[in-house]
Amino acid sequence: MRSPRQFTPNHLEELIADSKIKPMVNQIEVHPGWPQMETIQYCQAHDILVEAWAPLGEAASLNNEIIVQIAAKYGHTPAQVCLRWGIQQGILPLPKTVHQGRMEENTKIFDFELTDAEMAIIGSLRNLGGQCKVPDQVDF
Ligand SMILES: NC(=O)c1ccc[n+]([C@@H]2O[C@H](COP(=O)([O-])OP(=O)(O)OC[C@H]3O[C@@H](n4cnc5c(N)ncnc54)[C@H](OP(=O)(O)O)[C@@H]3O)[C@@H](O)[C@H]2O)c1
Repeated sequence: MRSPRQFTPNHLEELIADSKIKPMVNQIEVHPGWPQMETIQYCQAHDILVEAWAPLGEAASLNNEIIVQIAAKYGHTPAQVCLRWGIQQGILPLPKTVHQGRMEENTKIFDFELTDAEMAIIGSLRNLGGQCKVPDQVDF
């Protein structure tokens, strides 16, 4: 079982109420198929930067037909579309790769822009890649 590593709004509320300095960054799992919209909206309303771990769904988002089609339209790769989808929401994706070529590829995401419709359809995808357990739903 994947361990529960998510600060959702209820956890952040408690943390902020008990802190002199509010959190500046919240690192959570976000990728197509696991959009975490509620937590992202909460963080952005409270000026907390969301860092997305597993922004490619640990590579599982890359074979999705919709993402592949959008990538082909822009002459980019599915990985670049996943990362661009994150950037356009104002979050900071943290992709991992052991290949230099992919590292370079993953930085080249500032020369195209997804439409609102493409952002929405990618955001509507579900069950691509692993999903971290939500702490409140885990029986420790
Ligand atoms: N805070 C936390 O609880 C937490 C939890 C999990 C992960 N993280 C961190 O988040 C970072 C990323 O997460 P992650 O590694 O789990 O998932 P990820 O970045 O979504 O996916 C990594 C996988 O995608 C492949 N990949 C990367 N770029 C690619 C590209 N351009 N084309 C095709 N495949 C590509 C990688 O393969 P290759 O390496 O073979 O290229 C690897 O298999 C890691 O550095 C990790 O430390 C944090």
